[in-house]
Amino acid sequence: MYDRPPYLISQARIADRVRKIGAQITQDYQGKHPILLGVLKGCVIFMSDLARAIDIPCEFEFMKVSSYGAGTKTSGVVEIQQDISCDIKDRDIIIVEDILDSGLTLQYLLEQLKLRNPASIKICAFLEKPTRRQTDVHIDYLGFQVEDVFVIGYGLDFDGKYRNLPYVAELENPPV
Ligand code: IMP
Ligand code: MG
Repeated sequence: MYDRPPYLISQARIADRVRKIGAQITQDYQGKHPILLGVLKGCVIFMSDLARAIDIPCEFEFMKVSSYGAGTKTSGVVEIQQDISCDIKDRDIIIVEDILDSGLTLQYLLEQLKLRNPASIKICAFLEKPTRRQTDVHIDYLGFQVEDVFVIGYGLDFDGKYRNLPYVAELENPPV
């Protein structure tokens, strides 16, 4: 056991919000079967809860991109480490991401995916830090806004840890 940090966003609030986003996506995509395109690894917990709150057929795909090392600030350099294997031409894509900080990761990913001519592409982000944004990437479905603190839990990690925390907490003593 380890001492669990106090919550910033509780499990109950997360569950309620995720249910609402799922209902909204269900309504917006009637008659379609979108691809939920998760950005690994941070999307995993959010996407698995979200997918079960969506009441239309959808497919899962995953990509892995890197812009962070073991620190808490973006390196500004984005690299696709693992690509999807399917053709997304004429498909409806919902990118599922854990958090938009600078927004650089998603801006880059959006540019790359648009080149593949999907029918539509929307962004679903669990969290956003509005004060840190350096891009005007539009978030279509958002869980919560958070202040400029480093957050962990519900899929979000610090140096690979805390993803399994069932709620969102602030990382105490983040390295500078
Ligand atoms: P961006 O490119 O600056 O928007 O960074 C996005 C990525 O940085 C996210 O997908 C996360 O993996 C990571 N990230 C940014 N802020 C946090 C945080 O507070 N906690 C954990 N990961 C974060
Ligand atoms: Mg991420």
